[in-house]
Formats: sequence, C-alpha cells, structure tokens
Amino acid sequence: MALTVDMDIKQTAEKLINKHSLSVDEYEFLITNRTPGITELIRSEAVSVRQKIYGNKVFVRGLIEISSYCRNDCLYCGIRKSNHNAERYRLDEEQILSCCDEGYDLGYRTFVLQGGEDAYYTDERLEALIREIKRRYPDCAVTLSLGERSYESYKRLFEAGADRYLLRHETADKEHYGMLHPSYQSFDTRMKCLEDLKKIGYQTGCGFMVGSPFQTARHIAKDLKFLEEFRPAMCGIGPFITHKDTPFKDEENGSTELTLFLLSVIRLILPNVLLPATTALGTTDAIGREKGILSGANVIMPNLSPTEVREKYALYDNKICTGEESAQCRQCLSRRMGSIGYEIVTDRGDVKKI
Ligand code: 5AD
Ligand code: FES
Repeated sequence: MALTVDMDIKQTAEKLINKHSLSVDEYEFLITNRTPGITELIRSEAVSVRQKIYGNKVFVRGLIEISSYCRNDCLYCGIRKSNHNAERYRLDEEQILSCCDEGYDLGYRTFVLQGGEDAYYTDERLEALIREIKRRYPDCAVTLSLGERSYESYKRLFEAGADRYLLRHETADKEHYGMLHPSYQSFDTRMKCLEDLKKIGYQTGCGFMVGSPFQTARHIAKDLKFLEEFRPAMCGIGPFITHKDTPFKDEENGSTELTLFLLSVIRLILPNVLLPATTALGTTDAIGREKGILSGANVIMPNLSPTEVREKYALYDNKICTGEESAQCRQCLSRRMGSIGYEIVTDRGDVKKI
C-alpha cells in the first residue's frame, strides 16, 4: 500500500512538472501526501523554471499603506471595521508623493498603493494621485491594492495610468469564503471584480492565505485550479497569522512549510507569474522571505510607508519592519537577497510574456 502511494505521489509531481496542470483531486492528493523528498523535487524544478525566465533577479515593489480605514469586516483582518482598538490613519496626496520620492531614490520602479476600502479615496482623488505619480516618474509602474470597486472606477483608474491591481480572491470556495467574511461581502462580487480588472487590461493579481481558519487541502486544491484557469500575472500568498482583536484570535497560524511548498507549486503552474515572498512569510519565519525566493518566488514588497504609521497598518500580530525606515528595509533586503545569491534590480519588473 505504502509503495503505491509513493509511486502515485511521484507520478503526480512529475505530471505537474511536465504539464503545469493537475485536476483538483490530484492537487489535493499532492498537498495531502507530500513528503520531504517530493517537496524538494518540486522546489528544485520551480527554481529552475524561475531561473530560466527571470534569472537570479528579484523585483522589488515599494509598498505604501495609504489608509487603515476600512468599510469591510473580514473576520481575519486587524483593520476590520469592527476592531475599535485599531488606530486609524490615512495618508494624503502629499505624504504619498513624498514616499514615492524617497522610493524612487532607493531604486524602486513600482509603487504599490495599498489600503483598506476607504471612501475618502474617491475616483477623482485617486486619478489625480496616479496622474501625478506618472508625471513625476514616467518610468515607474503603479499598482493598486484598494479592494473592490465598480467596473467604471477600475476603468477610470486604469485610464489615469494605473498598470496593475492586486485583489486576493482569498479562497476559491464559496462556502469557505462565507466562513471568512460577513454575509454582505460576497464571493461572486470578488470574482466579478477580478474578471473586470483583467478585462480592462490591468496586470491582475489574486491570491490567498495559507492556513486560514476552516481551510482544508481540498480548498487549497481549488485555489490552485482557480489560478490555473484565471492565469493572473501576479499571485500573493502568505500564511494566515492571528490578530489579537479579531474573532480568529485563538486560531492557529498558517504553516511556513506549506506556504513554501505552494509557492513552488504555483511557480510550476504559472511559470512566468510574479510571485512575492510576502511580509507574512517573513513574520512566521525569520528567514521566510529568503526561503520563499529559494522556493520559486521572485518579488519582494518592502515597506515604503512613513515610519509613524506602520504600526497602525496591522493586518496581523507581530508584523515585521514596523520600526524600520524605508532606507533600512531597502538595505536589509539587498543584504538578505545577496546572502542567498540573488540580486535586487532597479526595474519595473513587468510580467514576462512566454
Ligand atoms: N494574516 C495573514 N494575511 C492577512 N491578510 C489580511 N489579514 C491577514 C492575516 N490575519 C491578507 C489578506 C489580504 C491581504 C492584503 O492581506 O489576504 O487580501
Ligand atoms: Fe524591513 Fe528587513 S526588510 S528591516
């Protein structure tokens, strides 16, 4: 019996490596029956696929956390509107532009504007901001990560110059989505937003947390199938981490090991995907981001937010880099990437067409 399982798992891994595709049942089987040997096989294949397309270059994105106000109430998130202990802030246009100025000097050529769903950020305000960033830095990409908006809004922001949009799908299983969100946040709306973004022409990113409450191997298998079909340009995954002021405060954190395994699997499914080694991964393991790169990731998103607000953008407990200056993060990451034989590049880092 043990022998057949061994054979099947090897065959399943080889099928993934050769075909970049598995059925949902096969993904589930792979996740459930992975061994250290299989994990290493998949990891080394993922690294060689990434190496062929992107070499040993790591793209960096300057992450500016523009607002901790949020109208939503995701059960896992520290800035959910029901968390009355959360300190709220928002950056104005001038503060955001000064982060970009600093980031440009540090070599960033992509700025990611991320925030809660904050009504202050109307289309008009965002259009003006995006236009000004593009005017000052025509050689930079602008990525938005501002949650769900209408088709018209996404279109206006794209026309103002935004290049990319990150909106994690969170889970590809509707029932599971319902267990992580209040009933007025809808799975169907989330999926429609992702379709809209792609249709408009954004380089679109989705993603999910690893080890979120109630998540099973079957759910993750469905996430992987979704990635295979949706074919995002970017995919953000990181371990779920508890936040002390949320309903999930007593749940368990997601596993670093499973996150690393999934980074490799995703690299094999989508060879050219822009795949960050996330801050959450650097939080569950002191060298999680390095391990992420060594598992097939090729993007790092250092914090460019003003030091005074960093603590307040706490989606989960013990987040790293909240006490550092932007320049410190930049240097720290160069050193960290250098230590594993990788190099941070000054480049927009667009998805490579293959
Ligand atoms: N742990 C890990 N990741 C989280 N996110 C939100 N809350 C948490 C948490 N507690 C992720 C979500 C969201 C992204 C911005 O951060 O996936 O889409
Ligand atoms: Fe921020 Fe290391 S990346 S201090």
